[in-house]
Amino acid sequence: MAGYPTLLVSVLLILELSGSGYCSSTVNPCCYFPCENKGVCVRFENDRYECDCTRTGYYGTNCTIPEFFTRIYATVKPRPAFTHYFLTHFKWLWDIINSTFLGNTIMRLVLTVRSNLIPSPPTYNSAYGYISWEAYANVSYYTRILPPVEADCPTPTGTKGYAKLPDSTHIAERFFLRKKFVPDPQGSNLMFAFFAQHFTHQFFKTFGRMGRGFTKGLGHGVDLSHVYGDTLDRQHVLRLFKDGKMKYQLIKGEMYPPSIVDAPVHMQYPANIPTANRLAIGEEHFGLLPGLMMYATLWLREHNRVCDVLKKEHSSWSDEQLFQTARLILIGETIKIVIEDYVQHLSGYYLKLQFNPELLFGVQFQYRNRIAVEFNQLYHWHPLMPDSFNVKGQEYAYEKFLFNSSILLDYGVEALVESFTNQHAGQIGGGHNINKHILRVAVGVIEESRELRLQSFNQYRKRFNLKPYTSFQELTGEETMAQELEELYGDIDALEFYPGLIVEKPQPNSIFGESMVEMGAPFSLKGLMGNPICSPEYWKPSTFGGKTGFDIVNSASLQKLVCLNVKHCPPNVAFHVPSGVAQKQEQEALGAKPSTEL
Ligand code: HEM
Ligand SMILES: *[C@@H]1O[C@H](CO)[C@@H](O)[C@H](O)[C@H]1NC(C)=O
Ligand SMILES: *[C@@H]1O[C@H](CO)[C@@H](O)[C@H](O)[C@H]1NC(C)=O
Ligand SMILES: *[C@@H]1O[C@H](CO)[C@@H](O)[C@H](O)[C@H]1NC(C)=O
Ligand SMILES: *[C@@H]1O[C@H](CO)[C@@H](O)[C@H](O)[C@H]1NC(C)=O
Repeated sequence: MAGYPTLLVSVLLILELSGSGYCSSTVNPCCYFPCENKGVCVRFENDRYECDCTRTGYYGTNCTIPEFFTRIYATVKPRPAFTHYFLTHFKWLWDIINSTFLGNTIMRLVLTVRSNLIPSPPTYNSAYGYISWEAYANVSYYTRILPPVEADCPTPTGTKGYAKLPDSTHIAERFFLRKKFVPDPQGSNLMFAFFAQHFTHQFFKTFGRMGRGFTKGLGHGVDLSHVYGDTLDRQHVLRLFKDGKMKYQLIKGEMYPPSIVDAPVHMQYPANIPTANRLAIGEEHFGLLPGLMMYATLWLREHNRVCDVLKKEHSSWSDEQLFQTARLILIGETIKIVIEDYVQHLSGYYLKLQFNPELLFGVQFQYRNRIAVEFNQLYHWHPLMPDSFNVKGQEYAYEKFLFNSSILLDYGVEALVESFTNQHAGQIGGGHNINKHILRVAVGVIEESRELRLQSFNQYRKRFNLKPYTSFQELTGEETMAQELEELYGDIDALEFYPGLIVEKPQPNSIFGESMVEMGAPFSLKGLMGNPICSPEYWKPSTFGGKTGFDIVNSASLQKLVCLNVKHCPPNVAFHVPSGVAQKQEQEALGAKPSTEL
């Protein structure tokens, strides 16, 4: 019925657009991403769009005109760069703030401001660029913060840049490949790097067989599935069914995960590893690295230790109740360690970060979480990995270290903790810092983002309240990479998400740039505080078996996780290289004689 006028319109459009370089008659208007300030683009007919500006604080065709209060708020709101500067300077001021009620107020502000950037309940996924029941209810998908670029757009990032993106291997080799190891200026060590990998792989579990965009991690957060398995079947094989404990084996009097002979679960190991050396744990990939198996061993010992503590006070409890309560305690310990040790170190903030769920009891907050594709992409922190791994003075090349199941058993947990504490991890931002053995993982990240049609880096900058970069020079803070990127991408607005994060100039003396912090922190804090144990109904001593268990959660630290589970506590257990060691290594690198005081 409407055929005739539509035809006429398209003819007119073809005539009109033929001068502007588009060969198709109508470009999907949402490909221009016209809706600013988180407005939602809806396509009508073929060539018309509307922006839904509801509750954005803006109005107008493209949600660009601020409402009265938005205007006032915008003038008083500090820019992220300023806030970051403030939080990482003026130690004397923070020493005062930490110890007053202001510490709580600012911590609450950090949590709410960050979390509010994450939609909850979740919105899109890689198959649904609009709100839908399927995207909400099917938790096999990772969620998406920004909808995918629609398939009919003229270029992969919408309308900017070239129709074809640069070769992903070329990008990795030109901008990511390490020339010379650059240590993280914040002093992160391998204890940090392996913790990052171990912790995040409980919720980053891309499900290859279903295609990219799907996850096996249906818990979507801190569920400790990497300790207990991601299915009930796997958990049951790993459990001892006595006193709540997990199966284990004793080697030289120390507790280790059982071999797959005693706990037959699927573990990824190459064919040459003898069955007895294949350790069985929650996450099937952790045989990859002795650093991951070391953390798996620590958490296994911690679980069984907590079971002993609980059993002492609750002699009547069943195996099941002891197990379940210990699991909740370990989840609490994990969140405590991540906020107060891991994020504290990573942020470089002088504000003392606190894990205190009560801070959120007076404000609106949803106790739920859904892992996002973007969070997964940005967490590919492979530049952390060194060029070889030093264990007790012995250098192990990748070929000797990966899948070497005897390193942990030969050296033991203490020796690995000590060695990993003293070895520097690499700087993540700034480019040129991924070891060649794992470069192909970064290629995979870029390939995935194309398959899933991620929006451009600048679109994400805007989504997280950052100003889009206007040039590649502004992004990288130098000329060489900037020029080459410009040639490859043609337009700063066509730059892809992961390359943008990795080549961005790091903040002064920092591990990475502004975007990684401002985009990573919201996902991270929402995931940690959105855990059900943080809700008013759960967050009380009885959930953790009483005061004793609650105290274990509230006093957990990396130091205790290690030292309560080894015979001799190694010195300086931390996520950074101890300062004395760092100085000594620096002098040695410069060829100077190490100072005698060290
Ligand atoms: C020598 C050390 C490492 C090796 C050999 C390694 C290797 C790999 C491989 C092969 C993948 C799968 C890639 C794919 O499916 O396309 C992967 C994924 C990943 N890696 Fe690493 N990696 C290492 C260290 C790290 C570290 C230190 C981190 C820090 C957080 C990290 C974070 C990730 C993440 C987030 C994923 C995605 C996981 C998923 O979605 O399932 N990796 N890595
Ligand atoms: C809205 O955005 C589109 C696409 O970016 C642009 O062409 C148009 O001029 C904008 N309209 C207004 C009123 O700002
Ligand atoms: C405040 O916290 C920071 C970061 O943990 C720390 O460096 C500083 O010493 C703390 N001050 C007090 C008084 O706790
Ligand atoms: C989720 O979506 C995928 C892809 O459409 C489908 O194969 C799977 O069965 C869905 N899962 C559930 C639980 O419906
Ligand atoms: C594994 O590490 C041990 C030291 O624990 C070393 O002797 C051995 O050569 C390594 N194995 C392989 C296959 O590289």
